[in-house]
Amino acid sequence: MRTNKFLGKDWIDAELDFTKEEWETLIEVGLELKKRHAMNQDQTEILKGKTLFTMFFNQSLRTRSTFAAGIQQLGGFHVDLEPGKTYTPAREGFDIPYKTERIADVSRMLNRVGDAIAIRMYGPPAYWIYGFANSTIKEFAQYAEIPIINMECDKYHPTQALADLITIKEKFGTFKGINLTMSWAYSGSIEKPRAVPQSVVLAAAKMGMNVTLAHPKGFELDPEVIAACEKFSAETDGSFRITNDFDEGFKGAHIVYPKSWGSVYCFNYTDKTGKTVKKQDLEKAEKVNNENKNWRTTKKQMELVDKHGIYMHCLPADRGQEVDDDVIDGERSVVIDEAENRLHAHKAIMAMIMGGRL
Ligand code: CP
Repeated sequence: MRTNKFLGKDWIDAELDFTKEEWETLIEVGLELKKRHAMNQDQTEILKGKTLFTMFFNQSLRTRSTFAAGIQQLGGFHVDLEPGKTYTPAREGFDIPYKTERIADVSRMLNRVGDAIAIRMYGPPAYWIYGFANSTIKEFAQYAEIPIINMECDKYHPTQALADLITIKEKFGTFKGINLTMSWAYSGSIEKPRAVPQSVVLAAAKMGMNVTLAHPKGFELDPEVIAACEKFSAETDGSFRITNDFDEGFKGAHIVYPKSWGSVYCFNYTDKTGKTVKKQDLEKAEKVNNENKNWRTTKKQMELVDKHGIYMHCLPADRGQEVDDDVIDGERSVVIDEAENRLHAHKAIMAMIMGGRL
């Protein structure tokens, strides 16, 4: 089999681990597969006979449906291993007799019989400990030679970020000189991961865009993510800034991506030994959330963006809270294009890291 530098690589912290050039290749492959799909070209030779195991510890519509459809369109097959119906994979110290099974055993077993394992985990299955899910997915990788795909953890959602970059490339043709604002938005649901905003700002900075991160105080992202954004921006001659002003974030943006995420109070934090250093404080989380109900994208708010500016959201959106119907259903909204591009992004990732014949 021909080889390439993507072959066998894990897609876990992809914004950090894959280079700008590799992201550009994946965008091109995604667009190529999209074109072939639109022309009804058969793609079933690309991953013929390959098996993808999926494991969703959380709910999903887009990720679940597009990975399943994607592997089928490439000639492969997916087996959905529902945690709870199979023995739930668990880390040392979190075992429950005859209910859980050590990740070391699950991963080594699947490694012998399939071609990739894709995992989604954040929130309650990861005890709301920030970084626990990301480490859990990496533990699968430690015991498997086949690629591991992060379908959203508590730190990153890199498959979403690739679909978003494909969408931006389609809409603007370039990343250079494009102003993207990733903004917090109000939602009645206070417990949410930071994966989407962290992946979007990292991927946009990596591609050299002018990135603004807008959020009220109390909704800061991981300092390591901010440091990486600053580094990427310096390397690509893009820019990165943070504002705590909703209007300021929208002014002159070519792309606004207003999306709710959990405040700093909604996570438990541990040190390297696993000892809790700070506990979740849901009272404070509720308070800081309710103080910022005005961070809702209305038609009037959209008047602040560039005249060709677009509205993005990964979905599902909390309508009437994060955004008004006339914005998300309006002519500037590209949310369904983004959701569709999940299919082509996932096919590109699978084709490249699972040894597809393109
Ligand atoms: N955007 C996203 O990941 O959607 P799902 O939660 O439906 O998979």
